[in-house]
Amino acid sequence: MKLRSVELVLPKTKDAHDFLIDIWGAASGGKKGNTYYIRGAGTFPYLVALEEGEDHFVRSTTFVCNEEELQHILTKSHERGLKTKREVSADLGGGEGVIVELPEGELFRFLVGAKDVPAMQGQDLPVKLTHVVFNSTDAEKTGDIVEDVLNFCVSDRTKGMVFVRCNDSHHSTAFARAGFSSLNHIAFEMADLDGVMRGIGRLRDHQMTPAWGPGRHGPGANVFAYFIAPFGAVIEFSTAVEKVTEDYPVGAPEDWTWPANRIDQWGTSDKDFQGLRQAEENFRFRRDWEPEQRINNTNKERQ
Ligand SMILES: [Fe+2]
Repeated sequence: MKLRSVELVLPKTKDAHDFLIDIWGAASGGKKGNTYYIRGAGTFPYLVALEEGEDHFVRSTTFVCNEEELQHILTKSHERGLKTKREVSADLGGGEGVIVELPEGELFRFLVGAKDVPAMQGQDLPVKLTHVVFNSTDAEKTGDIVEDVLNFCVSDRTKGMVFVRCNDSHHSTAFARAGFSSLNHIAFEMADLDGVMRGIGRLRDHQMTPAWGPGRHGPGANVFAYFIAPFGAVIEFSTAVEKVTEDYPVGAPEDWTWPANRIDQWGTSDKDFQGLRQAEENFRFRRDWEPEQRINNTNKERQ
């Protein structure tokens, strides 16, 4: 199972596209219909889809998986009564699977057979998304459901978040104890620490300073710098989060405390709490499909 992409709907997608290509440093994956696709150096056809629309919302967050993983999700989401829809992706790369609506409206899409593209060379292209994080009213409940239904695994709990993995990377998603439900941020994985720092420099050339960072996180131990993008989302330059083994001990909030006046391992970062909180309100979730009454959950029925 791998996190692949996030699909956003928003107005003025050309502006968002230009920012992500010309300033943030990503590459164009092309345009199809009313959707721009933004890619990285890796083999996914895109990391962020920007679909033109009147409002801001998250259409889906997409994971690529195998048939066995998909079958588990189909069976368990049906058992738990989650709203689902079978999906044939019209986005770049295609693939088919299911979209599951989590309890707070997060739309997670799981695709089998989605196509990859050749990797690209280019200094400071993001490689892929390392994580996409959501705000929650009940992060524990969502954490429990993604463990049961999606076969994800909680890696750590802090005062602020429940960190969840879907493979051996410490987290591919997390649910913040925010008191409301929305997109928290999208993290782009850079090749190394220099890639993160040069990204900060590139944005500084355009009079943009980090809303949080640079610093090194506790859980995941990644180096980070968060920015509030002109198109409204919070986006992050990040190094890869650490790899963990299956017996990784699940941390509790008391395992992850900071000395006074520190909010990262290095003690270098300032945080614009108010600005980030405001930006995190911009992208909510919107289900624009009717749930299916029953999922066909055998191979035979899916064909
Ligand atoms: Fe992050």
